[in-house]
Amino acid sequence: MRVLVVGSGGREHALAWALSRSPMLTALYVAPGNTGTAQVGQNLPVSVTDLDGLVHAAVQHAIDLVVVGPEGPLVAGLADRMAAAGIRCFGPNAAAARLEGSKAFTKQVADEAGIPTAQWEQFNDPAAAHAFIRRRGTPVVIKADGLAGGKGVVVAATLDEALAAADAALAAGPVVIEECLTGPEISLFALCGGVDAVLLGTARDHKRVGDGDTGPNTGGMGAVAPVPGFDGAAALDVFVRPALRVMATRGTPFRGVLFAGLMLTPDGPRLLEYNVRFGDPECQALLPLLATDLLPVLVAACDNRLDTVRPDWHPGATAAVVMAQRGYPGVLEGAGPIGGLNRAGLVFHGATRTEDGQVMADGGRVLTLVGVGPNAAAARRAAYAGVAAIDWPGGFCRRDIGGADV
Ligand code: AMP
Ligand code: GLY
Repeated sequence: MRVLVVGSGGREHALAWALSRSPMLTALYVAPGNTGTAQVGQNLPVSVTDLDGLVHAAVQHAIDLVVVGPEGPLVAGLADRMAAAGIRCFGPNAAAARLEGSKAFTKQVADEAGIPTAQWEQFNDPAAAHAFIRRRGTPVVIKADGLAGGKGVVVAATLDEALAAADAALAAGPVVIEECLTGPEISLFALCGGVDAVLLGTARDHKRVGDGDTGPNTGGMGAVAPVPGFDGAAALDVFVRPALRVMATRGTPFRGVLFAGLMLTPDGPRLLEYNVRFGDPECQALLPLLATDLLPVLVAACDNRLDTVRPDWHPGATAAVVMAQRGYPGVLEGAGPIGGLNRAGLVFHGATRTEDGQVMADGGRVLTLVGVGPNAAAARRAAYAGVAAIDWPGGFCRRDIGGADV
């Protein structure tokens, strides 16, 4: 089977790595990829925003399966374009990708499906939004409706902050204003094939840049899997299958990975959001635990045949530690050569390029070091042993991934 992975981050390197081990694979391409993906497949110089170019590449290389990493191309309709070209694509079409593309749509589906989530209202008008915020009081959560690259949510502690956040969000489109919940967060991953769902696993993401969850939010500085003491399989019945039924009834069945962001509140788990793809770095933490071949599982999801596969998982745990370029998530410094990669164990590249045979940092989240072990402590030790092997003065990581808080 000839496969094209779309994307260039650590998530896509992990996907390409897992697919490259499949006996069913005959050719693997990654567009645009990075230095790491070039070690397991062939990179194609096509950007994830160039839908025409991606369809053209898939046709030209006689691709049997396209696996889409990031949400942008899914919301923009890449799966629809591949389907029109007769090419199987893992990832939802644009209508189903609205579960990530619109916060208001997510909340409507959650309410229709009876999924526990924060109380909310949608506004298009500043006066009505302001009146609602004043009536509700703070803390309150303000969400820009559309895709915002992780920057669309403000948990406002004061009235001034809430009003300013609503104005900023309304300048771009509708806004969702919701009840502020508290509690630890969990990422739940389900493989969905229309109406069926299979558990891919649970993970805990560390979104803040600094140790002890301090500093600005990032795309994710580390993840551990699974989350101990949380029954992911049971959670599918509450947070995934009811949404799949609503989507199928609406005529827009969901196929792909549904990533439910949950908060464990004192009143029980609540849905915060859906994403329509694997998380990064959660994907790097989840896939090394998969004991069965990833390729037939993804194909089964595309073909609505999830009942024919039963993915099997290693019993241990993983810790995924991201090394970022100094300055991330602000102005980047610390580009430069990276050494020690061959001694670092399981390492996925997030943003690298090769210059005169030397691997160079090429963006924010540059590497993910993954430790696998019989338990979380062993996994964490293995991940940080990988970090210690890396020779890159321009990089940094959090030191507390998989620490006592997990
Ligand atoms: P989202 O993109 O909707 O997951 O929001 C990003 C982050 O904002 C979440 O991971 C939470 O930390 C926070 N958040 C979102 N919704 C709420 C809420 N209703 N109450 C408290 N925090 C929230
Ligand atoms: N790590 C969070 C995300 O991928 O959205």
